Amino acid sequence: MTQSSSAPWWKKGIIYQIYPRSFMDSSGDGIGDLRGIADRLNYLDWLGIDGVWLSPIYPSPMADFGYDVADYVGVHETFGTLDDFDHLLSEAHAREMKIILDLVPNHTSSEHAWFKESCSSSDNPKRNWYIWRDAQPNGDPPNNWLGYFGGSSWCWNEASGQYYLHSFLKQQPDLNWHNPEVRKAIYDSIRFWLDRGVDGFRIDVIDRMIKDEQLRDNPLNPDYVEGRDNPTSKFLRVFSENRPGIHELITEFREVFDEYDDRVVIGEIAYSTDPGLITGFYGEGTQPFGTELHLPFNFALILLDWDAAPIKAFVDAYEAIMPPYGWPNYVVSNHDQTRIATRVGDAQARIAAMLILTLRGTPFIYYGDEIGMRDVDIPPEQYQDPQGINIGISRDPERTPMQWDDSANAGFAPAAAKTWLPVAPNYATEGVSVAAEKQDDHSMLTLYKRLIDLRRSNEALALGDYAQLDAQAGVPDGVYAYGRGFASGDQYVIALNFSDETKHAGFGGEIVLSTHLDRDGAVEALELRPNEGVLLRR
Ligand code: GLC
Repeated sequence: MTQSSSAPWWKKGIIYQIYPRSFMDSSGDGIGDLRGIADRLNYLDWLGIDGVWLSPIYPSPMADFGYDVADYVGVHETFGTLDDFDHLLSEAHAREMKIILDLVPNHTSSEHAWFKESCSSSDNPKRNWYIWRDAQPNGDPPNNWLGYFGGSSWCWNEASGQYYLHSFLKQQPDLNWHNPEVRKAIYDSIRFWLDRGVDGFRIDVIDRMIKDEQLRDNPLNPDYVEGRDNPTSKFLRVFSENRPGIHELITEFREVFDEYDDRVVIGEIAYSTDPGLITGFYGEGTQPFGTELHLPFNFALILLDWDAAPIKAFVDAYEAIMPPYGWPNYVVSNHDQTRIATRVGDAQARIAAMLILTLRGTPFIYYGDEIGMRDVDIPPEQYQDPQGINIGISRDPERTPMQWDDSANAGFAPAAAKTWLPVAPNYATEGVSVAAEKQDDHSMLTLYKRLIDLRRSNEALALGDYAQLDAQAGVPDGVYAYGRGFASGDQYVIALNFSDETKHAGFGGEIVLSTHLDRDGAVEALELRPNEGVLLRR
């Protein structure tokens, strides 16, 4: 079909997120690294992954595990060297796989040379690279803004006699994006990697980079209940998030990428179920794929109640307002959120797999979800994540080592190594590992592999239109069903039973795949077993 030949890779493709500390340890220190990732590319190739997004690999004191960057153009020694990176990139490209890096431009590490200079005196040339303000007359911070990891967003710097702003940890000072020198320095770092052949970036908290120039107080959140709610949500972030000027800034970012062919810009924006908020980040239709982000993250499937009606309502609305130059995307897990199998259970995690791999839009798979990895209970005294240590909401449980096989440490690290986070015991007790699941015709991994193969080999599933189906079309309550490719030759219907009851649909077709991996063939009227999803050809 003509559409496919012109469709860029990030529309057709499947993107896999690797948390580098936890994917594969080749050095034996209990922490994953770049050589380890390169060693496992054959697995990702077998699975059918088109692009790999790596969480940050740059030099960093690791106060926020790499989201505190001390040098934008280097590699942390724990992960390897620039040569190791180049090796990974060329091995990926040899398999026609893309590599996407994580850019963290809202803040640097407090160990970054820019910040050290900025701190050194109130009149040094880098002072205005960060956001410095005097104390209030009583010594209090300049305003009431709270950090996402707890406490005020302001930290007093005794030596230079002012406060600096940090939206996250005090080790993560916010850059001043009103300053053109900052913009140039970061754009040059992006070019450094794009010149090396990197295929794109995922940009961290991109909607928070512009702050109110007057730094006005945020208003109280009327729904906030002390003791019940996350203390960092006490104020509405009206003046510190999604400010006027952000779209111009993102457009400028995009222009850097457009100096190169075929690169992708993915942006982390607010977690929202408002489709209009998400589609606002595609920019204008003056270019084939918009002028801002190619893929503004859609986290709705993480936030919505896991049920047919709210998910259908969201997807229908998101599809309906998607501009012609925009392209949807779907995320169910990442390094900041509870894993999907833990949130919805193993049976519904299969529904999630069929959902993201058959909807119209780029699917993001978080490493390990394809084998049904679950969050690992970690006692508070062993928390590594600063968010867990500060406000009790730890992200360690979803960041544990990848489970490769049934050898010690699940094959992630040599037996003698002490892994940086514990390995889930279910690699041994329940066979939750790549090696075991590859041998099992009914495993989660087999389901992912079948779904990915189908998506890759059927244009209608990758790029075809999305068709709403409802009760009139024979969709029972508790089931979310939709069509793909109705406007083209190959037509598919996907029917997902979100309930634990048997459901009878008023339509049939040829069963291509069931999430239970145990049936195919033609049916006149589809009966869905509890928690079953079925892909039908019409
Ligand atoms: C983003 C990242 C998260 C990090 C934070 C600060 O939300 O996904 O892991 O802690 O930004 O950089």
